[in-house]
Amino acid sequence: MYNVKGDVTMLKILNLSLRYGKRILFENVNLEFTEGNCYGVIGANGAGKSTLLKILTGQIESTTGEVIKDRNDRIS
Ligand SMILES: Nc1ncnc2c1ncn2[C@@H]1O[C@H](COP(=O)(O)OP(=O)(O)OP(=O)(O)O)[C@@H](O)[C@H]1O
Ligand SMILES: [Mg+2]
Repeated sequence: MYNVKGDVTMLKILNLSLRYGKRILFENVNLEFTEGNCYGVIGANGAGKSTLLKILTGQIESTTGEVIKDRNDRIS
């Protein structure tokens, strides 16, 4: 899949939200990771870095939103 700039999209996060009870960890997050780039996740302790990665791998289900990737691509 290609974005509007013609880059190849590896992974796309659409309207992602995660709540633990009253605590909002993510709210309507939209992100796109394009091929050929290297990305880092930065944040304070407890900000939700590990949780975000677990959502990407499907280990945790988000409250709203979706993660889109090519069916032939594998996250490891
Ligand atoms: N199952 C759960 N129920 C409730 N809260 C949770 C649950 N799992 C994680 N949390 C909370 O969500 C927040 C994010 O946790 P997470 O482990 O993703 O943070 P992190 O950015 O990876 O932190 P660190 O830098 O310490 O690795 C933390 O405040 C944590 O206490
Ligand atoms: Mg962590």
